[in-house]
Amino acid sequence: MLGKQLALMLASKFAEIFGKHPDLIASAPGRVNLIGEHVDFLDGFVLPFAISDVTTVAISKNSSKVIRVASIQKGGEIKSVDFSKIAPMTGEPWTRYPIGVLWALGNEALSNGLDILVDGRVPLGAGLSSSAALECAVATAVNELYGLNLSLPELARIAQKGENVYVGMPCGIMDQSVSLMATQGNALLLDTRDLSTEQIPFDIAQLGLELLVIDTQVHHALVDGGYAERRASCEKAVADLGITSLRDISVSEFEARKSELDAKTYIRAYHGVTEMKRVLDAVVLLKSGDFVGFGEIVTLAHQSLRDNYTVSCPELDLAADTANKFGALGARMIGGGFGGSAIALIKARDSELIKSEIRGAFMASKFKAPRFFSALPSQGAAVIN
Ligand code: GLA
Repeated sequence: MLGKQLALMLASKFAEIFGKHPDLIASAPGRVNLIGEHVDFLDGFVLPFAISDVTTVAISKNSSKVIRVASIQKGGEIKSVDFSKIAPMTGEPWTRYPIGVLWALGNEALSNGLDILVDGRVPLGAGLSSSAALECAVATAVNELYGLNLSLPELARIAQKGENVYVGMPCGIMDQSVSLMATQGNALLLDTRDLSTEQIPFDIAQLGLELLVIDTQVHHALVDGGYAERRASCEKAVADLGITSLRDISVSEFEARKSELDAKTYIRAYHGVTEMKRVLDAVVLLKSGDFVGFGEIVTLAHQSLRDNYTVSCPELDLAADTANKFGALGARMIGGGFGGSAIALIKARDSELIKSEIRGAFMASKFKAPRFFSALPSQGAAVIN
């Protein structure tokens, strides 16, 4: 459904639920990440793009100090909380994402209570950042509603703070940044150290290529714990080596100092150090139009996530391996891992073959049937007029 149509439908639902018209409607997309995984909390470079699936919010001020949130996907039931009493990691889990953003903005920024209706259309738990889409839609709406004039990097940091502290997930800054800063037709080269960006054209359709997303439908509950634990290993490597960041050490220097780290710390941080280099190499290849070389690096990233960082799972490995076996230029898991989605850069004419081989391989392994879609670089968050 187009943005305008979604907005009209949401406005009339809002009126049904809250008994008035919304002041404003805003939306923000989910993302896929081409390369640069688990380095956005290490000052690394990442290369995600926004997908066309968005979360849209309708919002209006109310005259109390109460925040009321409802979601179309949760049947429109209103959840209320007094803004002066909100506290991190309380309330129904899904409400922590929008309320966490308001909490991170702070009491002074918001002089009224708010009514918010959410329409989340980014698939949940598929590693496509439905949470950042929700956070960034709320951040964009509130920024406009109160005329806060916060920049996109500032909004990204606020949304991340909400997720880190209010939701309790120690994520990096990639998902929020791309959801806010993406532009249509481009991947976003983001330097997570200072949030500077470069838009990298990724017009693959014109070259007869397609970015296939394979949602394995695996949603592992250990994702949060496993994510935090690996992040802690990388932070330990930084402390043990006495450096400021894994960004500041070359692969060869890091290898030369192997004996200073325990085996687990070394291998996890090794992923980080090599992945940062892979991103920069991949960008050079993309800029020169070498999609074969680019695809090879994408596959190397998967191997490192599987063998060094150990965040893959049998379903993600099977999806990536099968895509490669049947002609993909490269394939890998994306996002936090332990489930969720893989991407494969494929020739568009091989799409049906590759999907059917992956379906067959999943069936033979008695895995849940995967879901597929094709992703094109789309626009970041916007207020819908
Ligand atoms: C999750 C986090 C991101 C990032 C990825 C891995 O999506 O939210 O910040 O760390 O995992 O690259």
